[in-house]
Amino acid sequence: MTLEEAQRLDAADPLAFARERFRLPRDLIYLDGNSLGALPVATPDALSRVVRSEWGEDLITSWNKHGWIDAPARIGAKLGPIVGARPHELLIADSTSVCLFKLLAAAVAARPGRTAILTERRNFPTDLYVAQGLVDLKPELSLRTVDRTELAVAIDEDTAVLYLTHTDYCSGERHDMAALNATAHAKGALTIWDLSHSAGAFALDVNGAACDLAVGCGYKYLNGGPGAPAFLFVAEALQDQFRSPLTGWMGHSEPFAFAEDYRPAPGIARFLTGTPSILALAALEAGIMTFDGIAIADIEAKSADLTRLFIDEVEARCVELTLASPRDPARRGSQVSFAHPNGYAIMQTLIARGIIGDFRSPDLIRFGFAPLYNRFEDAWRGADALAGILATREWDQPRFHARQKVT
Ligand SMILES: Cc1ncc(COP(=O)(O)O)c(C=O)c1O
Repeated sequence: MTLEEAQRLDAADPLAFARERFRLPRDLIYLDGNSLGALPVATPDALSRVVRSEWGEDLITSWNKHGWIDAPARIGAKLGPIVGARPHELLIADSTSVCLFKLLAAAVAARPGRTAILTERRNFPTDLYVAQGLVDLKPELSLRTVDRTELAVAIDEDTAVLYLTHTDYCSGERHDMAALNATAHAKGALTIWDLSHSAGAFALDVNGAACDLAVGCGYKYLNGGPGAPAFLFVAEALQDQFRSPLTGWMGHSEPFAFAEDYRPAPGIARFLTGTPSILALAALEAGIMTFDGIAIADIEAKSADLTRLFIDEVEARCVELTLASPRDPARRGSQVSFAHPNGYAIMQTLIARGIIGDFRSPDLIRFGFAPLYNRFEDAWRGADALAGILATREWDQPRFHARQKVT
């Protein structure tokens, strides 16, 4: 494909208008929206309004006057169409890691007598560490890790929770959520899905797939800003049976009654803990609003097309690289990874050229394609730069091998 052909795809793209919702540096090709989403045009003004007018002028009265107290549920509800949940099944809270802990502890408590948390060996580290921490607190539990291909057969009558990341952070491979939920439910187990690399990247239907519980990052495809709060999902039917292990006052049925004893709020609100960060919520709301009026089917289609174009171009021109992502778009998230023994230096060279992706140890260069703002031209230019760097061995310079703290 030529650059002009890629640009013709952009001209015909029904989502092309959405790029205007973001502030992207002119000379940068940004292929890392799976790590940190781009800055929405609306965010600086939204933050300024909350800081100057709400906090600055109305101070404490803003909790009522500007609805700060309802922001976690109100903003969570806006995620409904993006993940396929009902508005009252979603809440914005804490970080992904903290939400994982809350839901995992609640789920094991809801399956007394069962001892196993089942996950895959290569789950995202924070997911594994959170489960290890819970097992340390509750030694009657065990964390069972198996290869992803063995998950379905490993679910048994001792499994309390099947605990998985939907889209793998390294390969971008998606699990078959509906099939695994059905297998888990047939054995009486609950399921928790980490949707960090799925929400906003392609079409999701957590209720259609019969998920019990889910969490996800706010700062990736949802464009909520660095360290944005996370979201959590609890299926309606389970909400009143589950209790958060972090029983803070914001999850109390009457926080301002200042009662001595904890009584969980009805519904999903019981999964709140402490006072939410209103500034962080304002940025996340602006991020989620970049999806306003967008058909999720268009996102799904563009994600498949962008990633396909990138794979085809890279494979045609970079024989040294090995595809580490599924070829079938239905099994692929909105990211593509390639393996190369000098992947770290190659990615640093790309970044120095203004093409931003990232690196995942030991040898993966990883590219995220955010359907709202990435163009076919970006995919083409990324592949073109990669081919140039490999052909000239430009990456083989000491400055590109020096490891930084964040890769
Ligand atoms: C699958 C997955 N879960 C969780 C996280 C991060 O969790 P937290 O937001 O708590 O740092 C990431 C970060 O990249 C991730 O990829």
